[in-house]
Amino acid sequence: MDFSLESYLNNKLKVLAADLPIFGKDFDPEIRPADERFGDFQANGILSYLGRRKENPRQGALQMLEVFKQNDTLFDVEVAGPGFLNFKLKDAGVLAWLKQFHTADSYKGHYQSIFSNKTVVIDYSSPNTAKRMHVGHLRSMVIGEALQRFIRFGGGNVIRDNHIGDWGTQFGILLMQIKATGYSFNEAPEQAIETLERLYQDGSALTKEDTHALETARQELVKLQKGDAENLELWKKINAISYQSFEVIYKRMDVTFDEVLGESFYRDKVNAVYEALQQHQLAVVDQGALVVFHPEHPRFCKQPFLVRKSDGASNYASTDLATILYRVQHFQADAIVYVTDCRQRDHFEQLFLTVKKWFQAESRPLPELYHVYFGTVLDANGKAIKTREGKPIQLQALLDEAVRRAHALICEKSPDLPEDEKLHVAEVVGIGSIKYADLSQERTGNYRFEWDKMINFDGNTAPYLLYAIARIYAILRKCDASDTVSGEGVLSFSTETERALGHKLLAFSMALTLSLRELKPHWLCRYLFELAGTFSTFYNADKVMTEDKNTRWVRLTLCKATLATLETGLSLLGLKTLQRM
Ligand code: ARG
Repeated sequence: MDFSLESYLNNKLKVLAADLPIFGKDFDPEIRPADERFGDFQANGILSYLGRRKENPRQGALQMLEVFKQNDTLFDVEVAGPGFLNFKLKDAGVLAWLKQFHTADSYKGHYQSIFSNKTVVIDYSSPNTAKRMHVGHLRSMVIGEALQRFIRFGGGNVIRDNHIGDWGTQFGILLMQIKATGYSFNEAPEQAIETLERLYQDGSALTKEDTHALETARQELVKLQKGDAENLELWKKINAISYQSFEVIYKRMDVTFDEVLGESFYRDKVNAVYEALQQHQLAVVDQGALVVFHPEHPRFCKQPFLVRKSDGASNYASTDLATILYRVQHFQADAIVYVTDCRQRDHFEQLFLTVKKWFQAESRPLPELYHVYFGTVLDANGKAIKTREGKPIQLQALLDEAVRRAHALICEKSPDLPEDEKLHVAEVVGIGSIKYADLSQERTGNYRFEWDKMINFDGNTAPYLLYAIARIYAILRKCDASDTVSGEGVLSFSTETERALGHKLLAFSMALTLSLRELKPHWLCRYLFELAGTFSTFYNADKVMTEDKNTRWVRLTLCKATLATLETGLSLLGLKTLQRM
């Protein structure tokens, strides 16, 4: 039996088809979750496949039905319509699956996905340096972290790359101000980054009023770009301090990277890109700048992709082009996933189009390219979220507030927990709530940041799911989970609520598959929320520690499997979980 019954059936039907002359070697059964009324799964592929081969699909479905019945005892199967097959797991099938898969360890390495055995570079968080992280930096970090965990769980070889913006025009202004004020970096990183932010703001205001200042800043930038030793030294310090301040947040958010190859890493790699694009006649010089038009595209035929500025400097586009080549050559990337906000959709569309043509011209295999975009974080009134003074909300402050609110909630719900445990629970619940609120929304839309909704035990929230987990731990503590009954020979459920929970549990892999196919974590969130509900219904109806040993085994196993699924699911979303709260 496989962890994913979808792939179990897919493989089985392919094997069986090999002995039926009506099917060929390239047959794909296309097993999909079915409408609950008809069963658990359906094979959609027979109809279209035999249709294409000018065979009778219903005939083929009937033949498949016969051999399937002889080879499988776990599913009820029937032919439907002009050539579909519907599969419904028998109780014995669900129980056989549960026997094998009811601990988190038993899932490991058993789930295959579209990313199995592929090298996937995932580019997320990627903030610009010399500024603290604010609420606008939340989503890329949270969504990217969840997706990298999904892909890894789905058999991908993941490389997490933080593509920080460490080579922008901000440095001209910063260098000017550091020199003008004699700033010496003699403070703790958290203060230093604030000072740098202020220096930048002052400098930026200055360059707007004073053309002399503007020229000075520009010259400092040019000096940096030409490799001036003093400026390079200062630039390194700015980036080191920035990264230290990012790391405080990453640690709290449980986010880690394998690589931090910022934009500056590619500064000596952009020339090769300009040359290649010109050599293949993809890029042309237009008013001094190097640009790529896409004549076949309704907008990009007139609105080109600017890959080198008219002053000769590289930009976001040149760096991203060089980055793709590097990721393919150095990491052998089969796929690259970018997580940014939706305002960058045009950039990535143009980037991907350009790379496609460039690689084609050089007969290079093109990696799969995904732009995972998301909407804006809004306040409860539907406006972009800001502080009362109209400034961006600092991430550090936002996390503190989440934890403070979670602490209040915990004090109310569990006044008897020891204080240090309350603090730990509050950190897990607070940070988890922020992550879950973000992930449970379909990422392509904007989402409203509402404290009272997210830090709440009711609804599709982190506290609700974390509490469901703690409750199962409590049940297992009470129920002597080491009960040695084996459940050997149990072939059926004794109640409808047990059966419903059993079926819900084996749908975990389907929820994951959907999330991976669309790179959208909210499908998994929705599934976990439904699972917790199905579990509640079961637990309210069916007493776990019954006299009958077989029933007890079934119910304890359902509890364990629900726990394993909720814990695995939340950890895939990047949340920590608790045994007690
Ligand atoms: N630094 C960019 C920003 O703050 C995001 C970078 C995303 N990654 C990339 N390879 N373009 O918007």
